[in-house]
Amino acid sequence: MTSETLTLAYLDAALPIPDRVADLLGRMTLEEKIGQMLQLDARDDLEDHVLRRMVGSILHTSPERIVQANQLTARTRLRIPLLVGEDCIHGHSFWPGATIYPTQLGMAASWNAPLVERVARATAVEVAATGIHWTFSPVLCIARDLRWGRVNETFGEDPFLIGELASAMVRGYQGDGLQDPTAILATAKHFAGYSETQGGRDASEADISRRKLRSWFLPPFERVAREGCRSFMLGYQTMDGVPITTNDWLLSDVLRGEWNYTGTLITDWDNVGRMVWEQHVQPDIAHAAAAAVTAGNDMIMNTPTFFEGALDAVAQGLLADDAFDVAVARILTLKFELGLFEDPRVPVDGVEQIVGSDEHADLNLEITRRSLVLLENDGLLPLAPTKTRRVAVLGPLADDAQTQLGDWAGGSGQAGWLDGQPREMISTVLDGLREVAPWEVVYSPGADILTLTPDPAGATWPDGQPRPPIVTPCEPDEAQIAEAVAAAESADAAVVVVGDRIELVGEGKSTATLELLGGQNALLDAVIATGTPVVVVLMASKPQVLPASVHEAAAVLWVANPGMQGGRAIAELLTGQIEPTGRLPISFARHAGQQPTYYNQIRGQHGDRYADLTQSPAWAFGEGLSYTTVEYSDLALDETALAASDRIVAHVSVTNTGQRETIETVQVYVRDRVTSVSWTDKELKGYQQVTLTPGESARVRIELPVADCTIVDAAGDRIVEPGEFELLIGPSSREEVLLSAGFTVA
Ligand code: NOJ
Repeated sequence: MTSETLTLAYLDAALPIPDRVADLLGRMTLEEKIGQMLQLDARDDLEDHVLRRMVGSILHTSPERIVQANQLTARTRLRIPLLVGEDCIHGHSFWPGATIYPTQLGMAASWNAPLVERVARATAVEVAATGIHWTFSPVLCIARDLRWGRVNETFGEDPFLIGELASAMVRGYQGDGLQDPTAILATAKHFAGYSETQGGRDASEADISRRKLRSWFLPPFERVAREGCRSFMLGYQTMDGVPITTNDWLLSDVLRGEWNYTGTLITDWDNVGRMVWEQHVQPDIAHAAAAAVTAGNDMIMNTPTFFEGALDAVAQGLLADDAFDVAVARILTLKFELGLFEDPRVPVDGVEQIVGSDEHADLNLEITRRSLVLLENDGLLPLAPTKTRRVAVLGPLADDAQTQLGDWAGGSGQAGWLDGQPREMISTVLDGLREVAPWEVVYSPGADILTLTPDPAGATWPDGQPRPPIVTPCEPDEAQIAEAVAAAESADAAVVVVGDRIELVGEGKSTATLELLGGQNALLDAVIATGTPVVVVLMASKPQVLPASVHEAAAVLWVANPGMQGGRAIAELLTGQIEPTGRLPISFARHAGQQPTYYNQIRGQHGDRYADLTQSPAWAFGEGLSYTTVEYSDLALDETALAASDRIVAHVSVTNTGQRETIETVQVYVRDRVTSVSWTDKELKGYQQVTLTPGESARVRIELPVADCTIVDAAGDRIVEPGEFELLIGPSSREEVLLSAGFTVA
């Protein structure tokens, strides 16, 4: 550093951050300010990004490119460090050898916020050590249409559970504050309503009113905004005609106004460009750039021409020279808070010991064990050592290590610099059973799922992202099935691992159907017909529909995409070394035509079933079996006549009436009997996890503010309406398993 740079105020770490920001801003040219608002893809021309467009941030950065990018920054006039962002959404997704946890939906099945917080903390420790400062996680979208390709990235269908888990994840990432060298910036995304697609199609116009947004879609975002989540990413979609990128009501009135949010807003990928080429709501990039800046966006993700467009907008008088100052000040503030001017946090020495450590593998196994949801069990599970000598492990996903990791992981296609994670770090179901089961294990895949053909429309979208190839389901292969059937016939039990593959999961990869594709249904039919008891392990990114033959299976287990420790945890569960404790964060349909199947639908409909099918889901939100039975009894309220400022205090007895220990998730729902506007019949308001040994009974105390028993009225205000309510407590959202106690609010 020269003596000249030493005297620059913004480089003086002793000065308050606002002073440093003001000093630096005062030195920046218009071009430097516009560049500072840009986040570009580090896989492209990095030199052009850093030296010509003077970008403030990069994303999708391979280990080598992080070092290169920092070297390039050292050649810029003001040497403003880069913010390096990445989608580290269930572990450090694209870092070779990083710990990959279950997907967000898988973790949600644990209903365990402290554990999710620990996973986020451990992820931050790995991410921060590699020179990346910002993760685009967590996802707070509500998954309602199961055909949507991004259901796996969500915490499921319930706003309360989403809020609990998202808040935990943000705390985990941001740690004790940005000055902590292991803290990374969290991002609440995709703000807001992105998941409310038409027909499950990705990023289609979300047909959603402001009142509905306030009722269900905004509350989790409001919570993390108020709790200090440092960035928000804006959804791709338009709502009532307006792209989120320019939605003044949402960004200014609600987020910055009502919620006093002071964090940074980042667009999603090419949101600014897509207003021109995709949504056709702006005539050219200059107008799109002007609209995005005026609406209060801070960081523009991957619209390279924003640089030229914004300059043009100034030249045309669409934007004032100083229009960029507020956004740039926010970005610089983050950089100062992270201490990047003093230490750009390049990959630390000893990073190999931190990334993918044994300690993180243990934590991964812990959350995976808690994320498995047992949906059916006729008593076969846990497999009894006395009755089992040989197990047939079947199915196309029984030994498919990379598929098991799911989307946003080594092999999922968003990063060009790695094909997958090291095979030896991943335990498949076949590996797991070979490792933990004391029996002979025979293996046969039995079916293929799909083949791919390049989309004739081209390999990429106009925004540069890969265009998914066209999926053709495979026909059942008789020889393959015969081999699997023979294996099943020779065994005391068959474990068949079926589900979806990465080609059916993710952005632009929504599915029209929910059925198992390829030869999987035929495989299940044939193996179940052998009469050998069958355990179906559904390794599916999202709820899928199983064939009718599964009614004759002995057990069904949903494991989401369970991450690196999946096989080990599943084998432990099947062999009874651990208890099944996961509960569904999302309902499973019986048929794609039932969409949507979420539990908290609005009351009022003509009839309650389809002429040709029930509306009841196959498995409902909150459901999941244990290896024991738990009975709920004696629900009582301390007071039943309450005021809006009171707290509801309830007690319920939960008794383990079976032979094995369990962790019971006691779920608390509220029903408002009569509402001034139509409302959902019940809403989750809390839950508690209670460990019960065989025969043990616990009196669980539930406390809930009456202020939580709200609806959003016709004017869009969240209020408690006086009248009659019910507190519903039980093991799932199914009406028939809930105990009810009435109370009134004056
Ligand atoms: C687009 C996705 O919608 C978003 O979730 C992700 O963070 C960005 N791409 C960056 O990869």
